[in-house]
Amino acid sequence: MARSRRPLIAGNWKMNGLTADALALAGSVAEGVKQAGWTDREVLICPPATLLVGIAEAVKGSGVLVGGQNCHAVVSGAHTGDISAEMLRDAGASHVIVGHSERRTDCGETDAVVRAKAEAAWRAGLMPVVCIGETLTEREAGRTLTVLETQLKGSVPAGATAARLVVAYEPVWAIGTGKTPTTAEVAAAHAHIRRVLSGLVPDANAVRLLYGGSVKGSNAGELLAVGDVDGALVGGASLKADEFLAIAKAA
Ligand code: 13P
Repeated sequence: MARSRRPLIAGNWKMNGLTADALALAGSVAEGVKQAGWTDREVLICPPATLLVGIAEAVKGSGVLVGGQNCHAVVSGAHTGDISAEMLRDAGASHVIVGHSERRTDCGETDAVVRAKAEAAWRAGLMPVVCIGETLTEREAGRTLTVLETQLKGSVPAGATAARLVVAYEPVWAIGTGKTPTTAEVAAAHAHIRRVLSGLVPDANAVRLLYGGSVKGSNAGELLAVGDVDGALVGGASLKADEFLAIAKAA
């Protein structure tokens, strides 16, 4: 069925992967995508930065896209250990994840920091995948939609359009836990996100909204069938080629 928003299936490998296994994994994903010959969906893998160059090379010609997991806000300079959006682009990336909840928690990234990183992505010609999501405490307090609204308004830069923004909704409590919201909860969150985006982005209807948090081959079909879900941001299951390809197939 033709969709106005082309689904994006993104694998976030997080801090996993040494060269030999990572190249084998990327090779299997590339092979699967090539064989499937999809033109109606995009498949993206975001390996650790150390592997970007090698993996970009390994998947060349397969249609698989490669992205970073984080970037610094500025182009270059005295920021030991950081990587700029320009460096990611130079290494072969087309996308970058910004504001993942693990970075918001581990590294204290605020909405303002995330927004600056999204702007850096634009400056370098990368597509930012801006992550938002509530914690369990926030959900239990009935604050989910308010939290999502605050994060969106703080993290999405002025000037965003569907052509240069992807948003990923990742409930923090669903990440790596095997728990997922019900499809009704996902639908409510995504509808709210699109409503809020309509005040921020001229073509909010065309912005792709990914769901992330314990997506696997067996639940991808029902999650991706939710109206405002335009793809998935996959952690653990993206480390297994078969699982990841099954999710891409479900899109
Ligand atoms: P899991 O798929 O392992 O729950 O991780 C989701 C995630 O954080 C992707 O960015």
